[in-house]
Amino acid sequence: MRIPYIAGNWKMHKTRAEARSLAETLVRDLADVGHTVMVAPPFTAIETVAAVVSGTNILVGAQNASSALEGAHTGEVSPLMLKDLGVSVVILGHSERRHTYGETDQLINAKVATALGESLNVILCVGETLEEREAGRVDDVVRTQLEGGLAGVDRSALQRIVIAYEPVWAIGTGKTATPQDADAVHGAIRTRIAAMYDERAADELIIQYGGSVKPGNVRDLMAMENIDGALVGGASLKAETFVPIVKFNA
Ligand code: PGA
Repeated sequence: MRIPYIAGNWKMHKTRAEARSLAETLVRDLADVGHTVMVAPPFTAIETVAAVVSGTNILVGAQNASSALEGAHTGEVSPLMLKDLGVSVVILGHSERRHTYGETDQLINAKVATALGESLNVILCVGETLEEREAGRVDDVVRTQLEGGLAGVDRSALQRIVIAYEPVWAIGTGKTATPQDADAVHGAIRTRIAAMYDERAADELIIQYGGSVKPGNVRDLMAMENIDGALVGGASLKAETFVPIVKFNA
């Protein structure tokens, strides 16, 4: 049984006061939710949000982390520092990191290894650009990102990994993959994980969909066999939209 997992990626939004206010509303409105819920504030608001959600059913995530634990890495944030703030999960390989900041599969893999080594859970994002989709390369691209990101990750550590399939053309654009298209890629991801590990690992793997998830489309997406959760950007910035997404099955 895969437990639904809804995560909110706040990206570069919210001052501490704004973050506190949203976190307080979420704690109140999501208290009765049984599945997994996570919010990933910007680094500067993590401590504030962690204090609000501490002891509740809401997890605190980070949107990125360094591949190093400490040292001369100007502008980077170590997994050790994130743990110190109450972070239990890090989003790695987000398409904005890949495409705007040039992160390669090799760097993402190093980040995955460091985060896992510090007992953090990881949401590893994969997904194709519009150009790649139109060239018929979706499976190819996703396979390369999966194999690259998970290189050296052993079977037991895989249990601390969630995959987020986020087609780049659907992020922040209002365009969503149809539930059928998304499910087909999720199915291919599961098949790939079965080949890399085993059937059981593939069966247990949580695969989130991300890309313009909204209250109006979450139910149809979550109804698909291979879609186990959502990684939500824009619609996670307001309780009015994030709460109904989290409560998609209420
Ligand atoms: P979006 O972002 O929901 O605003 O499309 C999703 C994401 O980038 O994780």
